Order: sequence, then structure tokens, then C-alpha cells
Amino acid sequence: VLLRPYNTFGIAAHTRYFTSFSSAAALQEILSAPERRGLAHMILGGGSNMLFTKDFDGIILKNEIKGITVVKEDDAHVYVKAGAGENWHGFVMDCIGHNRAGLENLSLIPGNVGASPMQNIGAYGVEIRDTFYELEAFNLEDFTTVTFNNPECEFGYRESVFKRKYKGQFAILSVTFKLNKNPHFNIKYGAIEEELKRMGVHELSIQAISQAVINIRSSKLPNPAEIGNAGSFFKNPTIDATTYERLKTAFPHIVAYPVEGGHYKLAAGWLIEQCGWKGYREGDAGVHAKQALVLVNYGHASGEDIYRLSQQVLDSVHAKFGVDLEREVNIV
Ligand code: FAD
Ligand code: EPU
Repeated sequence: VLLRPYNTFGIAAHTRYFTSFSSAAALQEILSAPERRGLAHMILGGGSNMLFTKDFDGIILKNEIKGITVVKEDDAHVYVKAGAGENWHGFVMDCIGHNRAGLENLSLIPGNVGASPMQNIGAYGVEIRDTFYELEAFNLEDFTTVTFNNPECEFGYRESVFKRKYKGQFAILSVTFKLNKNPHFNIKYGAIEEELKRMGVHELSIQAISQAVINIRSSKLPNPAEIGNAGSFFKNPTIDATTYERLKTAFPHIVAYPVEGGHYKLAAGWLIEQCGWKGYREGDAGVHAKQALVLVNYGHASGEDIYRLSQQVLDSVHAKFGVDLEREVNIV
């Protein structure tokens, strides 16, 4: 089966088998079939954080579990459970439509609800761990369903247990968020404040913040429907204070933010742009002209072409700054 329609990078890799499921029972039935025993398997959502560098010799299982329900509420919060196969942005819009606050800064992130805990998706000063309550996951080895609460997911910057120690072991079935009836607006990310001003917003609302985020994202991130990509290809690296001082002296304009433990987070996009990659293109593989952290497929690049380019970017950033970038996208 050709995977091109199932990954936003638009890579034309193949998988031996492909099927979708819309319940845990259906997933169990698929995995229990005698002819599927021992076959490698992979759960797929919207395919917006993947790079296929080769064909997949196994079965890809697309999660299509749907449904959005309120599971409980109190004076201040509404607990909303969404099926893993719900589109993320559609879910965020549904929350905003019901005046449930907390996810508005995460508007327009591609992909599905079920993948959101995988890397603790984040944008514009908010991460899902800020409102994540619990998730249900199906153990692909013993077929039991387990619940993970917020600390059990061990969320970090673009990290969780599902990307590390439990990699490939669970299918996330649903995610429950603890949303606020009374919003706590988060506009500490400078670009949002500027955009709200430009929009002429005088009274803050979750609707206005969502629209500001949508405007900013649309202005610099490539739309996968037009140019293949998987968002930021690398993580923003964290460095210690000594390294920061060294870099700041050598590169006074370096873009960095202080984080916990006296460390600094560097804008990887800035490092990559300084190495001259912004707008670079070789064949159909390139570095986005408006956001150097995003690698793009202009049409027929292979996963290997993109991966090779990512290695060149890594090497040049290392050579110029002595900083090692880490890939954020899941490489297959
Ligand atoms: P997929 O790409 O299908 O899968 C990602 C990984 O999760 C794979 O390892 C897959 O096996 C696993 N997986 C998926 N669903 C399940 C499940 N139900 N159970 C178990 N494992 C599963 N990310 C951010 O954090 N912030 C951003 O601002 C952001 N901006 C982006 C902008 C663009 C234009 C694009 C293309 C991507 C962006 N991303 C961003 C990355 C991407 O949107 C997120 O990582 C998203 O959560 C991926 O969802 P998905 O359903 O497409 O996951
Ligand atoms: N910058 C440059 N040149 C570039 C790109 C960025 O100099 O080509 C500098 C600018 O100074 C800019 C700063 O980097 O102000 C930060 O850029 P931006 O606001 O675009 O955010 P980012 O750090 O590049 C991160 C996330 C994005 C998320 C945005 C907004 C990571 C790896 N990426 O990008 O997430 O949407 O912040 O919060 O943390 C994703 O994960 O796929 C993703 C798009």
C-alpha cells in the first residue's frame, strides 16, 4: 500500500499491509489473526510527524477512534474525553466553541488527538501537559487497557514515556483534558501579543487567541496540503550556562531563552538560518524559506533525500556552533 496519502511529508514509501480500526476490540481482532502473528506493527494517526526513509515491512494500523464526550465537571473545570482518531484542530475548535479554555494556543497543529501525548505537543507557550488529565492505552502485547495519569506520562519538552521506554508498546485510545470554565489567558509568547494588537483585539478571549495563533502559523509554516513537511524537523537544543556565554560572545545576536536549572534553550531555526540553509533546495528536498527549522518536500523527494539533507544541516550546525541538534520527527 502506498503511504503517500498518509504522511504529510508526502513520501512515496510503501507498507506491506495497511488497515484502520475504530475500537480497541477491532484492533485486538486484527492483531489476533493467525496470519498477522509476529508481524511488525505501527499505529498511525495523521502522519504529520513521520519521515519514512524506507518501506515498512509489516502492518500499519490507522487509528480512527472517534467521539468527544464530557466525562465530568465541577465549578471550575470540564473534563473532556476525545477519541484518539479525532482531528486535533477539530477537537480544539470544539472546545473553543463550548467555551472550554486551555487548548486555544495549540490551534492548527496538524494530526490527531491520539498522537498529542506522544511528544507532549506544544506551541506558543502552552503544552498539552498543562491540561492533560489522563489517557487510555491498549497494550499491544497483552491486550489489556490501562490508564495513564499526567505524571505517569513523564511529559517533557517534545517527550513522553510513549516515545521512550514504552515505544511501540501501546495504542492510545482516548485522551481526557481538564479544561477551564474560566480562562487563564496565556499570551506570554511575544508574537501572540503583537498579532492581537495587529488584529485590533481589545478584549482578550480564547477565540481571539486561537485566531492570532492561526494567523501566525499560517504566515510562516508551510501548509502540508501544498508543500510536504512535518513541522519542526529538529528540537530546540538546551545548553548549559557556560556554553551559552561562549556562544553569546562569539555570536552576540544568538536567539536564546533561559529555562530551568540555569540552562538556555536556543532557537534551532536561528542556528540553521545562520548556516545559510534558509530557502535552500536540492532536487525536491529543501529548507523552508520562512522557517529554517522546517524541512520540506517540494514534490518527489524520497525519505532518504530528506534524511540526508537533515544530516547536512546537523553537521553544519555542529561545525559552526559546536551544538548538536536532535531530530524531532519520528524516523522510520
Ligand atoms: P503521526 O505522525 O501519525 O504519529 C506520530 C507518532 O505517534 C508515531 O510514532 C506514531 O506511531 C505514534 N502514534 C500516533 N498515534 C498514536 C496512537 N493513537 N497510539 C500510539 N501511538 C501513536 N508539533 C508540535 O508539538 N507543535 C507544533 O507547533 C507543531 N506544528 C506542526 C506544524 C506542521 C505544519 C506539521 C506538519 C506538524 C507540526 N507538528 C507540531 C508535529 C505534529 O503535528 C504533531 O507531532 C502531531 O501530534 C502528530 O500527530 P499525528 O496524528 O499526525 O501523528
Ligand atoms: N528563527 C530564526 N530563523 C528561522 C526560524 C526561527 O531566526 O528561520 C528564530 C527567530 O528569532 C524566532 C525564533 O527563532 O523568533 C523562534 O521561532 P518560532 O517562533 O517560529 O518558533 P520555533 O522555536 O522555531 C517552536 C516549535 C514549534 C512551535 C513554535 C511556536 C520546536 C521544535 N518547535 O518553533 O513547533 O509551533 O515554537 O511555539 O520546539 C513543531 O514541533 O513541529 C512545531 C512547529
